[in-house]
Amino acid sequence: MHVLVTGGAGFIGSHTCLELLEAGNAVTVVDNLCNSSEESLRRVQELTGKPLRFYEGDVRDEALLQRIFAENAIDCVIHFAGLKAVGESVSMPWEYYDNNLGSTLVLTKVMKQAGVKKLIFSSSATVYSAGNQMPLTEESTTGNCTNPYGWTKYMIEQILQGIAFADPQWHICLLRYFTPIGAHESGRIGEDPQGIPNNLMPYITQVAVGRREQLNVFGDDYDTPDGTGVRDYIHVVDLAKGHLAAAKYAQTHAGCEAFNLGTGNGYSVLDMVHTFVDTNRVCVPYAITDRRPGDLAVCYADPDKSARLLGWKAEKNLVDMCRDAWNWQSKNPMGYQE
Ligand code: NAD
Ligand code: UD1
Repeated sequence: MHVLVTGGAGFIGSHTCLELLEAGNAVTVVDNLCNSSEESLRRVQELTGKPLRFYEGDVRDEALLQRIFAENAIDCVIHFAGLKAVGESVSMPWEYYDNNLGSTLVLTKVMKQAGVKKLIFSSSATVYSAGNQMPLTEESTTGNCTNPYGWTKYMIEQILQGIAFADPQWHICLLRYFTPIGAHESGRIGEDPQGIPNNLMPYITQVAVGRREQLNVFGDDYDTPDGTGVRDYIHVVDLAKGHLAAAKYAQTHAGCEAFNLGTGNGYSVLDMVHTFVDTNRVCVPYAITDRRPGDLAVCYADPDKSARLLGWKAEKNLVDMCRDAWNWQSKNPMGYQE
């Protein structure tokens, strides 16, 4: 299969390119490098010993996309490209709607022109409304998002459902990720956030490596066993493999279907800190601070539908995630910058 990966130089995209190449697929990437570096793709090729084709550019650039489809016999698209920082989306809503919706509209328009109608989309557990019972199934209520980033994922899901409804030749999977962490076990590719990390694991690894003084734990008065927030952390390599399973499913299944990609297990912030410290024998000083606005107490997946229909299940545990995240950060203290 020849797969076009938008946003393939990023955290999840680079791990997915690696798995696609290792499974014998041809890979073409389009990425404008607004939140990534071409070095990740160089390392993916080095690790696999296989080449991929890279176009530096914006997915909203219709002429560029037309050229990519003309120059490559693409069978399927995995669409990662987008902006993803929740807090930033609140202060820059126009940029989030323009980038995330605009890229999806241009991409699907050009796909339709090219007759390529198999699409895997990076959605998020953020599309689920607050107030649902845990675990979240694909039937849980969506919407009522609390920030523009979440709304873009929700709206893109609506757009893609509409496209598949109007034309039954489309085969679309909406993959709702829970909280991706970790890195490839080689320590050569991993998460490299620009500026201060928004998410827990990159913050922990940057404290451990000495780039930040201490972790702020956002609230210890939630209704959870230790009072800190509970999430369904998933190893990025498991997540990447979920995309291969979805791409295979999309070969034969028409329509537009949502799938949870999570483990089904919830861990608290303090579980994460303690597992990270015990696994890696490093110090992670922390202080309890106020809750982060918009955070839920608990969020975890029911991954049963993905297991049944995609034949996919997360295999790695919390120790694997903490070990691999630290392996990456300790070998690359400044990310891809060195
Ligand atoms: P990332 O920022 O590392 O990767 C996104 C990539 O897309 C980057 O390489 C960036 O340069 C590129 N990009 C952004 N806008 C573009 C555009 N208009 N044209 C071309 N390239 C563009 O993020 P990630 O963590 O790898 O996430 C990938 C996708 O998964 C995103 O859509 C994100 O919203 C979604 N997602 C991520 C998480 C997470 O925790 N990381 C959770 C749920 C969903
Ligand atoms: C966040 C995003 C969500 C996105 C997901 C995956 C917010 C509000 N939500 O969710 O939209 O889909 O990432 O990218 O940003 N924590 C701390 N200290 C920190 C960072 C986080 O205590 O410095 C806590 C949080 O309060 C939470 C847990 O750690 O309880 C995990 O946070 P995070 O890694 O940001 O992931 P999500 O909350 O799942």
